[in-house]
Amino acid sequence: MSSLKNIAVLPGDGIGPEVITQTIKVLEAISERFGVEFNFKFGSIGRDAIQRFGNPLPKSTLNLCLKSDAVLLGAIGDSNDALNVDDTLRPETGMLRLRKELGLYVNKRPIKVYENLAGRSVIRPELLKNVDFVIYRELSSGIYYGEKINQGDFASDNCTYNRQEIERIAKLAFKEASNRKNKLTVVDKANVLETSRLWRTVVMQVAKSFPEVKVDFIFIDNAAVQIILDPARFDVVLCSNLFGDILSDEASVLVGSLGLLPSGSRGDKYSLYEPVHGSFPEAAGKDIANPIATILSAEMMLRDAGMAEEADTILRAVNFCMEKSILTEDLNPDISYSCSQMGDIIYTLILDGPEALKTKSLREANSTIV
Ligand code: IPM
Ligand code: MG
Repeated sequence: MSSLKNIAVLPGDGIGPEVITQTIKVLEAISERFGVEFNFKFGSIGRDAIQRFGNPLPKSTLNLCLKSDAVLLGAIGDSNDALNVDDTLRPETGMLRLRKELGLYVNKRPIKVYENLAGRSVIRPELLKNVDFVIYRELSSGIYYGEKINQGDFASDNCTYNRQEIERIAKLAFKEASNRKNKLTVVDKANVLETSRLWRTVVMQVAKSFPEVKVDFIFIDNAAVQIILDPARFDVVLCSNLFGDILSDEASVLVGSLGLLPSGSRGDKYSLYEPVHGSFPEAAGKDIANPIATILSAEMMLRDAGMAEEADTILRAVNFCMEKSILTEDLNPDISYSCSQMGDIIYTLILDGPEALKTKSLREANSTIV
């Protein structure tokens, strides 16, 4: 991918601005350590944009994204507005329009269980060994974008896919599988849905160009069970828009918290990075949110831009926190670090290493641990 300098930052709603602040802190540490320059330009989206501009995706925000090298997004939504019948008053509409306008057709959601956190999941730790897979969620079509009708006593959401929409994401998923464990699982409902049957046909055709990749197909209802019973069987999981949305939230249970799951979306021209979690309005302003999902989304952004060393540095700092149980309250309600303390600690780790932490941030951050 091309160079990464101009980053459109859309903090959004709820805890969005808090997790974004910590992520920018981390990117500033990267900037200082590696001598790279990032130019952050802020835009409004979601409920914040409805309040300020009467539109969940104002033109100025879209234009900002269109002329940036990448977009970093916090979270969108507010439970009060989520069910509004007027499209222009639903914060989520901003998100959906942005994905469409930027042509983001693939959403990558890595699911990796940290060894040290296995005991914090509600799933038995022995089921969580070697869990490391990535969900490829189709993001710009399917039931999210088909014709919608609401006539009072009748409503419908049309689910459509065409060959090209399936083919382009399937190629990327196969490519990913061939760089990983050569295993691709397609999740569908081909025993009922025509769209799923088209997915199967197209995926089988794409498979011919990737003979080293083993493909299997499972139905969504079974996939929902297998993700809990045998999560280590998955490598790359390819799904349509809605199935990918559901399975990725479910998979967060394996990892221990939705607050740990990052995502990266791309199309042919643009890319956007955001945590999988939502805006968690109940936690907004309390400095308790988990910023790791957004920090890891920034890590994905750097990696996609070819900045592997910088990305590895973030990863090492996050892994260190997980290993040493430096966690926010979603993962450890007894001894927890705040959202901003997590940002400070990762900042220090990146710039000065773990030794500095012993003497500085940990003590400042939480005296009960040192
Ligand atoms: C996600 C979210 C969004 C989606 C909502 C906020 C529209 O749940 O990114 O997973 O359904 O795509
Ligand atoms: Mg979701």
